[in-house]
Amino acid sequence: MLALLGAAVVPSMSQELKLSANNIDDIVNAMTLEEKATLLVGGKNKNYTGESTTVGYTEDLVVGAAGVTKAIPRLGIPATVMADGPAGVRIKPTREEGGRTYYATAFPVGVTLASTWNPALVETVGQGMGQEVLDYGIDVLLAPGLNIHRSPLCGRNFEYFSEDPIVSGKMAAALVRGIQSKGVGTSVKHFAANSQETNRQKVDEIVSQRALRELYLKGFEIAVKEGKPWTVMSSYNKLNGPYTMENYELLTTILRDEWGYDGMVVTDWIGPRNTVAQVHAGNDMMQPGMDKQTEDIIQAVKEGKLSMADVDRNVKRVLQYIVKTPRFRGYVFSENPDIAAHAAITRKAADEGMVLLKNASHALPLRKGGKVAVFGLTSYDFMAGGTGSGHVCRPYTVNVVQGLENAGFEVTEDLKELYTTWLAYQESKAANDRIDFDWRWGRGCYPEMELNQVCIDKQAKAADVAVITIGRQGGEAWDRQVQDDFNLSAMERQQLEDICAAFHAEGKKVIVVINSGGVIETDSWKALPDAILLAWQPGLEGGNTIADIISGKVNPSGKLTMTFPVSVMDHPSSLNFPTTASKVPAEPVKGKTHRGTRNVDYTLHQEGINVGYRYFDTAGKEVSYPFGYGLSYTDFTYSRPTVKAVPGGFRATVTVTNTGDVAGKEAVQLYVTAPDGKLDKPAHELKAFAKTGLLKPGQSETLTFDVTDYDLASFDEATQNWVADKGRYAVKFGASARDLRASGTYAMPREFRMKVHDVLRPNVGLE
Ligand code: BGC
Repeated sequence: MLALLGAAVVPSMSQELKLSANNIDDIVNAMTLEEKATLLVGGKNKNYTGESTTVGYTEDLVVGAAGVTKAIPRLGIPATVMADGPAGVRIKPTREEGGRTYYATAFPVGVTLASTWNPALVETVGQGMGQEVLDYGIDVLLAPGLNIHRSPLCGRNFEYFSEDPIVSGKMAAALVRGIQSKGVGTSVKHFAANSQETNRQKVDEIVSQRALRELYLKGFEIAVKEGKPWTVMSSYNKLNGPYTMENYELLTTILRDEWGYDGMVVTDWIGPRNTVAQVHAGNDMMQPGMDKQTEDIIQAVKEGKLSMADVDRNVKRVLQYIVKTPRFRGYVFSENPDIAAHAAITRKAADEGMVLLKNASHALPLRKGGKVAVFGLTSYDFMAGGTGSGHVCRPYTVNVVQGLENAGFEVTEDLKELYTTWLAYQESKAANDRIDFDWRWGRGCYPEMELNQVCIDKQAKAADVAVITIGRQGGEAWDRQVQDDFNLSAMERQQLEDICAAFHAEGKKVIVVINSGGVIETDSWKALPDAILLAWQPGLEGGNTIADIISGKVNPSGKLTMTFPVSVMDHPSSLNFPTTASKVPAEPVKGKTHRGTRNVDYTLHQEGINVGYRYFDTAGKEVSYPFGYGLSYTDFTYSRPTVKAVPGGFRATVTVTNTGDVAGKEAVQLYVTAPDGKLDKPAHELKAFAKTGLLKPGQSETLTFDVTDYDLASFDEATQNWVADKGRYAVKFGASARDLRASGTYAMPREFRMKVHDVLRPNVGLE
């Protein structure tokens, strides 16, 4: 440990000076270089056995929190605490002294929240999360994550929101507003282009300026401008050469100069890199913090390699953050969150986040009181959320079978018994060496149980209906694979066929529930069952929500925020994503110390901005389920819309009417097709969205959408301008990207242009 404070020459005039919101400049002036360097580097990082680790532990403040900022008692600067993550607080649920537990609510994961298409609801979820952050004595929740779903195989897609930046940005901003309304901070992450987990700490993501501006940065821009997060987390990866955490162009020119961000930037949890470059770039806080980084700063300033002005600027931002924190305010926290109240919030969000993909012949809702044969291991070992730092140590999880029983369904006991026994056996064999991350190395879920025909036939006779849950896990540090993961395994496929055949022979229906944080292949098997409910990872009450939708107590209103392709290889990114199916190796490369290749080049294979529906709809490529898709138990019609020019853009309205028999909510998406111009544009792009309240049969609601000319602009690399051509824009109102139900026109009176900095060029500094 450095003997920093002892060795420092402390100016005597500052003896009585204590930090307040009004004297930050005085504090900066009173600090020694050693104190400043100390403040810019995160605090103690010990794991449970006391060794140093890059993922921090803060045994003395909040056990199991990810990191701390250091205290400087002389100046009244307290330590503050940062904890994961995007689905709720992740801390260690037990303590050596025993006595009680410290569980948190597992809220629905990001992808489930986004599927609600309801930012107001997501804000309410944020309020619940923020309250638990406060209750546990934490100052910043390391959330939300909003990296773009460039590939459906990214292991952390469950934490993120969408393949579309508008959805990502709006959802992130809503969550930030909700969390921060409780007087605690957020950290929008991982800035930027952290699109894969394979080799994530070394990979150089090579992205065109256009794709960066329009896709990979856009969501952050919206989140920063509309959410005002206290902190932004720079990512592990390199971007067009340098590491993002060392990139002045990213962290200062774009984030602060162009977007007006005035909060703090914190690194993702890594050890020393180029400390000087990080400080200069405007990466204010290094986490989890190593003494070497503090020493680097001191030495670099002394040697004239780092300016005191850069150090002071960052120190000031850290202090501006600290004075907002509950720790600084002396908030007395309870360590007793109201999990019951927050569980109720999770149900509201999950109700709207699950997506009904198929419902042939009104298979759903089911008649209550019937007998259900519940298949699939994750019906019994339900995944409320993902693994890694996005995991939440929760007090319980309502699985599918419990949910159905709670809702008054009977289940076939012999099948339940079989699965319960299989699960207990798998659990006894498994190594879950890091409970707080739920890191079961490998897939994250246990192998599916094989069933023989006699068993299936018996169930088809005994039960009224079959529910089969297909489970898929995703998590930090690993990407998903194509075989037996994105695609069903041969055994799963066979079982699905056998169960459908047996139940259909008895004139009975089969419902598939997908319990996954990410997309799976559906095209080859979706004809088999009668209904498919995409439950995602819906938080700790998940089974109850599934039962509510299956029974019709809740009418589903979730819609996809990404495309379900026919084949994963249909995504342009799949040719340049580290899977065994692509040319980019996922396995260790001989002679290299890390997995995967050094560069992942988004400019290859005509990828660029061709991500998700932007590609599929422009190429006219068949998909299994399109972006924006989701069924309801009722029907909606859209009126003729209005589109009116207003200064700097347009305002549109459309009236939605529930024409069916049950109450329901409808998410309407506004897509725009640009006139032909200098730049190639996608067939259409989402520019706004809105959701109705609960409409009774026959009831209508008028939704309003505001779009600015800047929102319509594309990025012109030749001139470094955002440009929207003058002319007629088709404004389309869709129930999905492929179900456009009404349209109008916006005549843009004059060309829109906005010049920005020529930064983050690819091919600069490539190894
Ligand atoms: C993850 C971050 C997380 C941090 C602290 C990192 O490995 O990438 O998302 O917030 O750890 O746990």
